[in-house]
Amino acid sequence: MTQLMPNTDPLKPGYPFNAHLVAGITPIVKGGELDFWIDRPKGLKGYILNLTVSGGGLVFPGTPHERKVTKGDMMIIPTSAVHDYGRHPDLHNWYHRWIYFRPRAMWSEWLDWTEKSCGVGFLSLKKHHGEREIDMIDHLFQDIDQINEQGSMLAEELSLNLLEQILIRCREFDDSKPTSPVDPRIQRACLFIHENIASELSIDELARVACMSPSRFSHLFKKQKEVSVRQWIEDQRIALARQLLITSDLAINQVAQYLGYQDALYFSRVFKKNLGESPREFRQSQR
Ligand code: FCB
Repeated sequence: MTQLMPNTDPLKPGYPFNAHLVAGITPIVKGGELDFWIDRPKGLKGYILNLTVSGGGLVFPGTPHERKVTKGDMMIIPTSAVHDYGRHPDLHNWYHRWIYFRPRAMWSEWLDWTEKSCGVGFLSLKKHHGEREIDMIDHLFQDIDQINEQGSMLAEELSLNLLEQILIRCREFDDSKPTSPVDPRIQRACLFIHENIASELSIDELARVACMSPSRFSHLFKKQKEVSVRQWIEDQRIALARQLLITSDLAINQVAQYLGYQDALYFSRVFKKNLGESPREFRQSQR
């Protein structure tokens, strides 16, 4: 009896994408082994950022949403969004770089591009910008790829940091999107959260820091950050927890305490809910 082995090549169908970040390049050449349609009707568990570096692809073929992508065109495919694409039949190749990732809550504004089709965001670097911008983004993709190949201790942190740069750049390039600068009162509250991450941090206290009523504060926070105050605080704590788990030898209950969780079991549950694995599993997988 043959046992089906899980696919370990992210370029081939059936790869499970269980990691938080996977990056690569898909070099599709006419008639080559990668020359098939990438068709995922239910999407993936995370986001995908895609940049065409040469040749061209066809997205949503045979539908009213069909479109061609060529050098400098980017796509952002959200969690669970249908995607169906492959080499453009008229072109000899389609090379595209991609990053699969689980986004941080505070990125939500940068993930929502103005031009969308079937939930997938599109951004053309060549239309409004030029070769320099394409090169810059291409290099950031390459850096992420290299960091992951080298597998340094802080590979994931570094990759997320570079990915954040790509998303911020894309937000800048997406100039048809209206800018809404963060209200200084909300900024003040965010700074306070960072400085007091291990404290209880009630909405009343944060609203006082922002000089607003608690309900107005919660409402404005959600509007500006696109996540609730509670979720944002949790996100900051998880980001810090990840760093501590990788870079220190603190026991899990010490990490929990450092972040203001009195109950280490509760901390582990919150961590697992956010990242899909317990703090212990996370630390082991990083080492
Ligand atoms: C690869 C595809 C690429 C992207 C990643 C997540 O198999 O070639 O386009 O979808 O998966």
